[in-house]
Amino acid sequence: MYTVPSLHSNASMMNTQLAKINIDTALYSSIEQYCAATPRSRAHFARACTAMPGGNTRTVLHYDPYPVTIVKGAGCMIWDLDDNQYADFLGEYSAGLYGHSNPIISAAIKKALDEGIVLCAPNPYEVDLASLICDRFPSCERIRFCNSGTEANLMAISAARVLTGRSKIMVFDGAYHGGVFYFAGHHSPANAPFEFIIGEFNDTQKSIDVIRKYHSNIAAILVEPMQGGGGCIPGETQFIGALREAADKHGIVLIFDEVMTSRLSPGGMQQKLGITPDMTTFGKYMGGGLTFGCFGGRSHIMDQFDPRQPGALPHAGTFNNNVLTMAAGLAGLRDIYTPAKAIAHNRRGDEFRAQLNKTISTHGVPMVVTGVGSLMCFHFQRKPLRRISDKIIVDPNLVTLFHLHMLLSGFYIADRGYISLSLALEDEQYIEFTTALATFLQRYGSLIAE
Ligand SMILES: Cc1ncc(COP(=O)(O)O)c(C=O)c1O
Repeated sequence: MYTVPSLHSNASMMNTQLAKINIDTALYSSIEQYCAATPRSRAHFARACTAMPGGNTRTVLHYDPYPVTIVKGAGCMIWDLDDNQYADFLGEYSAGLYGHSNPIISAAIKKALDEGIVLCAPNPYEVDLASLICDRFPSCERIRFCNSGTEANLMAISAARVLTGRSKIMVFDGAYHGGVFYFAGHHSPANAPFEFIIGEFNDTQKSIDVIRKYHSNIAAILVEPMQGGGGCIPGETQFIGALREAADKHGIVLIFDEVMTSRLSPGGMQQKLGITPDMTTFGKYMGGGLTFGCFGGRSHIMDQFDPRQPGALPHAGTFNNNVLTMAAGLAGLRDIYTPAKAIAHNRRGDEFRAQLNKTISTHGVPMVVTGVGSLMCFHFQRKPLRRISDKIIVDPNLVTLFHLHMLLSGFYIADRGYISLSLALEDEQYIEFTTALATFLQRYGSLIAE
């Protein structure tokens, strides 16, 4: 039956349509400016499309209309092919903690390079780095290195399945654990063929009900203490604590994916929450900016890989202990990202996020910045976010408009509004970033619907 829309909904519909037209017009103008400023990146993208699908070899690096090609980085700055300069607030999705030319990291890599690479044997760096990680993360009595966070999760899950003799893995809606462990909004058809059960993040009751139902067949619960790719949504202490209890009760291996979050305190989010998992996976910055992955845990789990034991699990990987990564990772964790530095950097991040949220509220615009310490994400809503289903679906052109506005203002951030702060950023960049945000809010705030 046709219903006559009320005057109120008519007016609000017209407002929404008008806002949409204005957002599209503003975006069109930003795209024109972007294309005028980046002709070489555009040509480079066209060439890349002939050899790689969509000109791309890492999905997250594509954005519309085409990404800038970055050719140089120094400190906290990067430059594109057209010599545009950006303050890097993306920090290689958290792997670039040390910035682009930290002298300690550079010297460690240079020394290792000069002493020869591809040595095909245990090397001195790996023991020091492994010991340092075990000291900082008491949940890890032993660790092993691999080449990426994805691989670390693959190995941790496999270790848990063998240990328990069970097949199912519990993960959470909104989670991202690597290219084949994607649960943000939908279950990717490219996911690894494990039997996943998907719980609701920060919903203790529902998650416990699921665990009760399937407990005899759940090998592991894999959880990010703060969902990173899902929008920097922190796990609540009570929720993560309940997972810990349920895992203990049912003999399930609790795995924290701290690939992103291990930088958020000297001992990661597990230290902040005061909750100890059975296994932890690492990646990103811990390799000093080079390819890195690591998984660790209690000795009875990890000793399954002890090659001296009959029937030990194999764990291969040509580059697991490559000297460049081991040397850079060790220099970074031992000489730069000391416990005191980790505390200070994340305090700075908390202050910065508070400043951004204050700027947003001064303009009365429905936006919020979520996160912990040095990792954060913009969202176009007032509604609090406790899980990905709380995320309001907004006009994707608005999200692109914000991204292009920040790029055109000289700030490199992820197209989805994620930022990760490197140690190389200075007060000057923080202040200028906040000013660029304020300009966006002034210019476009009235177009952002409630
Ligand atoms: C929480 C989390 N786990 C795992 C991964 C995968 O790490 P990698 O890209 O090194 O495979 C990522 C990468 O963004 C991540 O954020």
